[in-house]
Amino acid sequence: MKLRNDKILVFGGGSGIGKAIAKRFCDAGAKVLITSRNEEKLKNAAEEINSKNIYYKTFDITNINEHIVLFNEAAEILSGLNGFVNAAALGTGAFTGRGYEPWDITEEEWDTLTDINFKAAFFLIRNEVDYMLANGIGGNILNIASNAACMDIVGSYGASKEAIIKWTRSLGKRYGHNGIIINGIAPGATFTPMIARYAHDINQKYERHAIERFIRPDEIAELAFYLMSDYGEIICGHTVVADGGDNAATL
Ligand SMILES: NC(=O)c1ccc[n+]([C@@H]2O[C@H](COP(=O)([O-])OP(=O)(O)OC[C@H]3O[C@@H](n4cnc5c(N)ncnc54)[C@H](OP(=O)(O)O)[C@@H]3O)[C@@H](O)[C@H]2O)c1
Repeated sequence: MKLRNDKILVFGGGSGIGKAIAKRFCDAGAKVLITSRNEEKLKNAAEEINSKNIYYKTFDITNINEHIVLFNEAAEILSGLNGFVNAAALGTGAFTGRGYEPWDITEEEWDTLTDINFKAAFFLIRNEVDYMLANGIGGNILNIASNAACMDIVGSYGASKEAIIKWTRSLGKRYGHNGIIINGIAPGATFTPMIARYAHDINQKYERHAIERFIRPDEIAELAFYLMSDYGEIICGHTVVADGGDNAATL
């Protein structure tokens, strides 16, 4: 199995799931540009990935008018651009460490979260598709949603992730005809900084999952590799739930 495309831009690549995917793709020989807002984090991630194929650049995905500028820069850096991983987001407890209750959010927090997770997430996918169509590229897009989309009470975070599953489905069906493969992953609780408020130890028991443990970022990265591989093309417009059985009874 090999990657279907090998010049990849990873949003949210400075930590967690995005970083693990960037490492997996570099290991497979792809050139990868990781981006997020924090330069120090990106630099550390690039050092950790430790590959001649890793590059980094700061970028805030809410700068919607700059998306295409970034894609052109990425294409220069990577000598082409034909794959996108959309892993940038704020977690539901990003502001105060609070949980999933829908009422448990201020209007200001709602705006910040939806600006990133909902508005910027949509325009990112749209601009990635437009960029590939304009340049005749049959590339890949992988959207990181969340199993929060399948859960009952998860406020604006869950709603934004459900939207990503919907866009993945409808745009995947529409642009598969152009050779653009759009898929998603909906992880369960994955041991990254996003859930640090309740995940302190990778070996901690986590009974919400049927497998009673947290998911490791490298496990999500392996699934990402499959979905963006030449074999993964038969899955198109689909979001794979990888949540250790959390929602097994409800799907
Ligand atoms: N961990 C879980 O349990 C879990 C479960 C389901 C889904 N997910 C999803 O998985 C994806 C990756 O999250 P993670 O768990 O790996 O957490 P993470 O380590 O916090 O990664 C999220 C990344 O998004 C970046 N980011 C946030 N806002 C941004 C913005 N405006 N512009 C650019 N980058 C931005 C952050 O970097 P900066 O702060 O440097 O910008 C960070 O590197 C997210 O979409 C998350 O919703 C995670």
